[in-house]
Amino acid sequence: EIKFSEKSLALVNKIIKRYPEGRQKSALLPILHVAQAEFDGWLSPAVMDLVASILKIKPIEVYEVASFYSMYNLEPVGKCLIEVCQTGPCWLRGSDDIVEHLQNKLNIKVGETTADGMFTLKTVECLGSCGTAPMLQCGAKFHENLTTEKVDALVEDLRSANARSSYMR
Ligand code: FES
Repeated sequence: EIKFSEKSLALVNKIIKRYPEGRQKSALLPILHVAQAEFDGWLSPAVMDLVASILKIKPIEVYEVASFYSMYNLEPVGKCLIEVCQTGPCWLRGSDDIVEHLQNKLNIKVGETTADGMFTLKTVECLGSCGTAPMLQCGAKFHENLTTEKVDALVEDLRSANARSSYMR
């Protein structure tokens, strides 16, 4: 049976307290973030069931919300989740080339994870950084005004950072 760590559970309870009695469902989005961070970057059915039981809502309500938003991963992800924006402004400035370059470099397709479990590649909708298109998000960081050279440097950086630490997200 899976459980939140004490630290995450304290955070979950703090989030729930922000909402009035009977409105705990509103806490679902932030709690799913906590859950994703705690359980290896993705929401398994067991994790979603756990969240449902904490919020006293039906598991299907959690699945519906989690599958609606691209920021929740419903499949296991690599240590580095690379999310390339593909919405209009980024697309006009070459996000397709960035995605193509990453697919070739990492030898995976969008939606896949490298065999060593290091990288997952996703495309996402506008991340609100259109002025510096094309861009991608990796962990909490934005990488902007991308070129294929910048992408190469980023992948190298991530590989060497991984050699130093196993925590990347
Ligand atoms: Fe890519 Fe807005 S279109 S950040």
